[in-house]
Amino acid sequence: MTVPGGRISGFRLAHLLGEWRRRGARQGSADLAAAIRLLVLDGRLPAGTRLPAERELAEALPVSRTMITAALDQLRSEGLVASRRGAGSWISLPTGTLGITPDTPLVGHSMIDFARAAPPALPGVLEAFDTVRRRLPEHLADHGYYEHGHPDLRQRVADRYAARGLPTSPDQIVITSGAQHALAMTLRLLTGPGDRVLVEQPSYPNALDAIKAVSAIPVPVAMTDTGWDLPGIAAALRQAAPRMAYLVLDFHNPTAHRLDAAGRAELADIARRARTPLVVDETVAELDLDGDPLAGPPPMAAFAEDLVITLGSASKSHWGGLRIGWIRASPEVVHRLVSTRTALDLGSAVVDQLVLAELLADPDPALRDRRVRLASQRDVLMDGLREHCPSWRFTRPTGGLSVWCELDAPVSTRIAVVAQNHGLRLAPGSRFGAHGGFERWLRLPYVQSPEVLRDAVQRLGLVAASVTGTGAATEEDVAIPVA
Ligand SMILES: Cc1ncc(COP(=O)(O)O)c(C=O)c1O
Repeated sequence: MTVPGGRISGFRLAHLLGEWRRRGARQGSADLAAAIRLLVLDGRLPAGTRLPAERELAEALPVSRTMITAALDQLRSEGLVASRRGAGSWISLPTGTLGITPDTPLVGHSMIDFARAAPPALPGVLEAFDTVRRRLPEHLADHGYYEHGHPDLRQRVADRYAARGLPTSPDQIVITSGAQHALAMTLRLLTGPGDRVLVEQPSYPNALDAIKAVSAIPVPVAMTDTGWDLPGIAAALRQAAPRMAYLVLDFHNPTAHRLDAAGRAELADIARRARTPLVVDETVAELDLDGDPLAGPPPMAAFAEDLVITLGSASKSHWGGLRIGWIRASPEVVHRLVSTRTALDLGSAVVDQLVLAELLADPDPALRDRRVRLASQRDVLMDGLREHCPSWRFTRPTGGLSVWCELDAPVSTRIAVVAQNHGLRLAPGSRFGAHGGFERWLRLPYVQSPEVLRDAVQRLGLVAASVTGTGAATEEDVAIPVA
């Protein structure tokens, strides 16, 4: 049983719910229940969150109290809300009847996960495990604790930076349990409660969550149609004096923009003038779908070695299940990061590190295959969008894992809510804003097979038509078989 935890106010919940209601809809309570379910499934309402009193929520939304009661009854029957007299209502863990969780497997099941931009493992991962398994006896004689990371992997990660044009020594590398862990460690080092952190707007949702989790305050600077507003970043650094900036310069998540070499040089000048550390997340930097990643702009650290802390990861290049990432910084910062790390954990899993070290011994052929496959999946998705969602606009991504689509109406949350009923899990645009918004946007990943992508985009077209009232379909017509 889930125990009640922190409370969310009616105002905050109304804000998170966004544009949940279809105009003129009769099914108000079903819509509200579906919108709350979406927040639970994508993690914005964690289990245990205490819900506001019905009257408070009715005033904040604003809707009738009867509608709130009916929506909560629906969620209670699904096991997503629990209530106790005197203790109110809170979000509860579904007991299995719901059948849709963020971890529902992607393929071969009725639910298509069109929210998570994470590809399956490279075929070479299995082989690398076999190789490591054979050599394991050499390592088992060791203690197995590597707070900085296993030396073999630190060397390989450093070599990869050198191949990308940034000479790096292993003592500049800390191995972490993924880039998200790397960001959490960096935030712990650089920020304290109430400090400001500059972020792109939109930005990677889990990074925004990590910033809020250390009680820092995101200071968003809007992206433009073509990329970064560098004068805007300079002004924000001057005016808000953030402790650090969190930036994704290589195939930005979610817009897929990449900052070119001239932009990087300008950004380095801006950061140097403001003396603000730049924490640059290169999780998808290897996924250049049109060119050779070794021929792209040099890593940001090449422009401001003293100010840049780089986060990296094997999750998108090799496999998220390895849970291996890293931080590249000066040896002095590495030392400080490791000193603060020991309160949290004492290193990442050695076997997984050795597997990645094996994969990085000769990474280029497998990465080339990954890029070719992703590029063709991107093309399938774009063709599907042109056919099934012809009024949506998007720019062809040159790298990364997703298309950032501009819809023809502010209905992103509505589409995500209705899509759940049709076997499609979507991340609405509001997930990508520091304070919500982005109701005209949807991020669509192309990490699945062409067959699944074609099915997903067809369902999406029908759902979108039913929500916006365009096309012949009504929501009742969209009874898509989800076998
Ligand atoms: C920009 C960005 N940073 C970090 C992550 C998380 O990486 P990891 O799996 O290494 O924690 C992702 C995953 O989607 C990402 O897109």
